[in-house]
Amino acid sequence: MASSVVTVIKEQHREVDKLVKQVEAEKGDVAAALQKIHGMLKPHHEAEEGFVYPTIKRVEPDTDEEIKDGAAEHDQIMGLLEELLNQEPGGPGFDGTVSAFAAELRHHFEEEEADLLPELQENLSRPELEDMGERFLKATTG
Ligand SMILES: [Fe+2]
Ligand SMILES: [Fe+2]
Repeated sequence: MASSVVTVIKEQHREVDKLVKQVEAEKGDVAAALQKIHGMLKPHHEAEEGFVYPTIKRVEPDTDEEIKDGAAEHDQIMGLLEELLNQEPGGPGFDGTVSAFAAELRHHFEEEEADLLPELQENLSRPELEDMGERFLKATTG
C-alpha cells in the first residue's frame, strides 16, 4: 500500500532529526551530516511550498497565517543551515548556531505535524493522500 503524504512528511522529519542529533552530539562526520541535512531539507521545503501548503490552504482557508509562518520558517532554517555549512564544526560560535538551528527546526516540525498536516488527514480521501505521498516522494527522493 502506498504511504499517505502525512506519513511521508513525518518520516522525513524523523530522518532529518536523527542527523541533527548527530550534529548536536558532534558524532562522526559532522560536515557530511550537515550536507545531508541540506540535501534532504531543500527539496522537502520546495515540495511543501509547491503543492502541500497550497492544498492545505484550499481545504482549510483559515490556515493562511500558519502557512505564511511555515514558509518564513523554511527561509530561517535554511539561513541558519547555510551559516553552519560555512562554519568550522567545533569552532567558535558553532554550538550556538547548532542550538538555534535545531530549536527552529523542531518548532517548525511540531507546528506542521500538530496544526497543518491534520488538515490534510481530515479533508482528503485516502487515495488523494496516497497520490500526494507518491508525488512528495518523487519530488524529494527522485
Ligand atoms: Fe516538513
Ligand atoms: Fe516545512
